[in-house]
Amino acid sequence: PALSEMLNLFDFEAVASQVANAEAWAYYSSGADDEIGLRENHNAFHRIWFRPRVMRDVTHVNMSTKILGHYSSFPLYITATALGKLGHPEGEVNLTRAAYSQEIIQMVPTLSSCSMDEIGNACGKGQVLFFQLYVNRNKDITRRIIQNAEAKGCKALFITVDAPQLGRREKDMRMKYVNEPPDVQDEKDLIRDQGVARAVSSFIDTSLNWNDLKWFRSVTSMPIVLKGIQTLEDAVLAVKHGCDGIVISNHGGRQLDFARSGIEILPEVVEGLKKQGLLNKIEIYVDGGIRRGSDIIKAIALGAKAVGIGRPLLYAMSSYGQAGVERAIQLLKDEVEIVMRLLGANTLADLSPDMIDIKDLTTH
Ligand code: FNR
Repeated sequence: PALSEMLNLFDFEAVASQVANAEAWAYYSSGADDEIGLRENHNAFHRIWFRPRVMRDVTHVNMSTKILGHYSSFPLYITATALGKLGHPEGEVNLTRAAYSQEIIQMVPTLSSCSMDEIGNACGKGQVLFFQLYVNRNKDITRRIIQNAEAKGCKALFITVDAPQLGRREKDMRMKYVNEPPDVQDEKDLIRDQGVARAVSSFIDTSLNWNDLKWFRSVTSMPIVLKGIQTLEDAVLAVKHGCDGIVISNHGGRQLDFARSGIEILPEVVEGLKKQGLLNKIEIYVDGGIRRGSDIIKAIALGAKAVGIGRPLLYAMSSYGQAGVERAIQLLKDEVEIVMRLLGANTLADLSPDMIDIKDLTTH
């Protein structure tokens, strides 16, 4: 179908399921185990309702914000998703260019198919990138990766903390049987027999712990954000260890199945940090299951500074390249503007928890 026929993010998913190659579809769409966490990520938003205010002069709506001090046209960033070239021959630079034209920030993954140089060259003037780190058990390699990202202009370090080992994503694991005859037994196949995800992740440092934060501070001056926080307890520890931000996330349901969705955890973290006087010490982001402008607004009203989005942009990229990614982001922007107007909010600062009804959120 023509790109102009894509009216929401689910439309891109439907197209990608038909046109993306089988390996890309399996890797991008899969979640861990029974995919209950994956399913609940978006479903949780269906249990959050609005309390709109009226008669507020909503002629002008401004949805711009700052993330770690950097301008963003609305409170959405492109989260890190590995292996962009599985879905499109040009890979992540599609996302880079779309991020520039839509004035949002891209988080570049450690496991990007494009090099940091290719991404840097695709950047527009003044474009801001963040960097996502998988910690290599070899500290020298980790240091080099971080310092290369910083040297190439990345403005923040997002350390992924929910993946000491990769979850079992069975759709992805089954791919080898689709692509390769069973009698092929060279080394490459032995590694691949646990799916694309495991083949690329065996370097991850399983010993990562809170004491390592001192070391990260010593090798970079980028702000440090922990990606994959899932409880108030760990949010408090992140603040106490001097982190600049946290991403509340279950990694798109790809790691621990039955880990709660980010949006479900957000109220407990915000209220808990507030009670302890720690809320202003840290920026809070959420990802997982963001598919509508209303999802974004719910997260912001509940206290998130911005939200991340993964799969929908991979689907848009796999189906229509850069133009698809741009349209997907534009559709979300349009939805955000409509929701703000109908809620009675002129700016993101007008969004508050009393515009949101979460009494169904945790009772299901
Ligand atoms: C991811 N995610 C991820 N996270 C990370 O820290 N490093 C990575 O390399 C990847 N790779 C990756 C690949 C693919 C295909 C997906 C779908 C996800 C997790 C990602 O950053 C984010 O947490 C979720 O994708 C958010 O959920 P949605 O928007 O995909 O529902």
